[in-house]
Amino acid sequence: MTGGIQELANLLRRSQHPVVLTGAGVSAESGVPTFRDTQTGLWANYRPEDLATPEAFTRDPETVWRWYAWRRELLAGVRPNPGHTALARLQQVVPALALITQNVDGLHQLAGSPGVIEFHGNINRTVCSDKSCQGQALPDDTREPPLCDRCAALMRPDVVWFGEAIPEPTMTAAGAALEGCDLFISIGTSAVVYPAAGMAQQVVANGANVAEINPNATPLTSNADISIAEASGEVLPKLLAAIET
Ligand code: OAD
Repeated sequence: MTGGIQELANLLRRSQHPVVLTGAGVSAESGVPTFRDTQTGLWANYRPEDLATPEAFTRDPETVWRWYAWRRELLAGVRPNPGHTALARLQQVVPALALITQNVDGLHQLAGSPGVIEFHGNINRTVCSDKSCQGQALPDDTREPPLCDRCAALMRPDVVWFGEAIPEPTMTAAGAALEGCDLFISIGTSAVVYPAAGMAQQVVANGANVAEINPNATPLTSNADISIAEASGEVLPKLLAAIET
């Protein structure tokens, strides 16, 4: 058994309030480029930070819309990998396990995970750019971006952009999940984007154990009680096997 997995399984068995936070690394083995590696081919000349911001959308809504349309196309044939599947099964075996994801690809839900807290939204949903409006785009509206059928404002991806606040209901749900957290497992995230990256520090202050599953070191690694430097698609099925035996 890889060092750390048995130890993590033991902590998970004893945990009353385990919380998992996932990032793009969990989807990497499904063939989804991690957030900062996304720039290949047509988009090589753009930085994600120049596309995933309200200012970029105001300045050039068509390019931002097309970038998300391209990312949705990348996702069209993508399936959950063994890491997603093992995590969904873990949530059945450990019903208290809460799952917060920074990923916008919907792969956790596709793998069967319940109650996923989508901290940065979901790329497959679009919303009216007027946040107070609940309108949607008409199905036959081929404009890029389409217009809201209620207020005619531009539609936008239902994701959190740089510089935007996490929606209140999402913060509330994440706060409730982290309340009393005694084991925090960070998987496949570079742990550099706040407020998600602040969750580990928040729970450590309350005495929680922290584990990390990531082939590469992150700012969290040195403070983690358990650090497993391997791919999540390899580790999570082994963690599930350790819990189920
Ligand atoms: P990043 O691309 O910043 O980091 C991906 C992490 O996954 C890296 O630390 C890799 O080492 C790790 N990784 C790669 N392959 C892995 C594997 N097979 N198993 C486990 N880990 C692996 O993606 P995020 O940390 O998710 O925010 O980025 C956080 C946020 O930054 C994103 O949600 C996005 C971006 O700005 C918004 O869009 C608001």
